[in-house]
Parts: sequence; C-alpha cells; structure tokens
Amino acid sequence: MDLWDALRTKRERRMSGEYRREKRLRTRSVAGTMALGTTLAEMLMPVPRLVILRGEVGAGKTTLVKGIAEALGAATEDEVTSPTFTLVHEYVGPKVHLFHLDLYRLETEEQIAVLGLEEMVAQENALVMVEWGERFESVVAMATAEIAMGQGEAEEERLLVVRWDR
Ligand SMILES: Nc1ncnc2c1ncn2[C@@H]1O[C@H](COP(=O)(O)OP(=O)(O)OP(=O)(O)O)[C@@H](O)[C@H]1O
Ligand SMILES: [Mg+2]
Repeated sequence: MDLWDALRTKRERRMSGEYRREKRLRTRSVAGTMALGTTLAEMLMPVPRLVILRGEVGAGKTTLVKGIAEALGAATEDEVTSPTFTLVHEYVGPKVHLFHLDLYRLETEEQIAVLGLEEMVAQENALVMVEWGERFESVVAMATAEIAMGQGEAEEERLLVVRWDR
C-alpha cells in the first residue's frame, strides 16, 4: 500500500467511492500548505458547502484552513486558530461565510445535533470545514467534499487527496 492509499481506511474507500472527482496535491512546507488555500478556495467554491477534513493529529488540517481563510479574504493567518475547545469559529469574508469546526472532543450524535450544522450550511455563501467530521454518520451524510491529509516521506511533506461532486 503506498502513501496515497494509506490516506484511506477500508470504510473511507467505500465512502469516497461516492465522489466523482478526485485531485491529489502535495506540499513540502507549512507555507506550501497555506498557499494551497488559494487553489482549494477556487476548487471548493461556490459548492461544496460542507467539507470534511481528515488526517491524524498534526496532519495540517488547521494550517490548511488558515490558507483557505486567507485566500477567501475572510481572516488573516493569525486570526485563524484551532477550534478544538470552542468547537466552531466563524470568519466572514466578502464572498464567503467560513465556518471552521473541530469535532475531536465530541463523541455522540446528540452532541453533533445541537451544533446547528444544517443552519450553518444553509447560510448564504457558507463554506463549512469540519475537522474530525468523518467520525459522525450525520456529518458524513451532509458532506459534499472531503480533504484527506497525511504525512509524506519527508518531515514537512504532506499529501492531500481532495474528493468532491457526489
Ligand atoms: N507541510 C506542512 N503543512 C502543514 N503543517 C505542517 C507541515 N510541515 C510541518 N507542519 C507542522 O504540522 C503541524 C500541523 O498542525 P495543525 O494544527 O495544522 O494540524 P491538525 O491536522 O489541525 O491537527 P489537529 O487534529 O490536532 O487539529 C504544525 O505544527 C506544523 O508546523
Ligand atoms: Mg486542527
């Protein structure tokens, strides 16, 4: 199994089979991951609206959101921090209303239900990016895209697989 395949578990391979489009990206530094924000912002707008960000702790999910927020003019790099404890951060840009969630600390569908994800997605110009969203059936059901991130061969290398259009 190569590094790209390792970005998918069996269940995720089945899930991702539902997506019709797939793009692989590679970065070699934090700055490189942030720069991918511009490419991804273009790919993901105006739809998909709910994007699941998958990857181990430290894969670079939050770093990628920094890049996307900056590309959208919704926030500067420093303004985007991990929503691990706050659960949701919101950044309003000229064209996009960005929601950034981290569900790592949540465990049940009941906890997800009170977050108001449907309302976020229904907001005009919403882009909802959810770290650790793949752990919840209800979030997977709402997702219109996913980005899987993993460590590459070098310390600062990261591989990304973007899937959308299902
Ligand atoms: N190419 C790279 N892209 C992104 N981060 C990198 C890269 N190389 C090294 N790093 C480091 O990896 C870490 C990524 O942290 P980040 O908070 O973005 O991860 P995360 O996937 O959001 O983790 P968590 O699941 O804990 O929220 C940072 O410490 C960053 O400096
Ligand atoms: Mg994070």
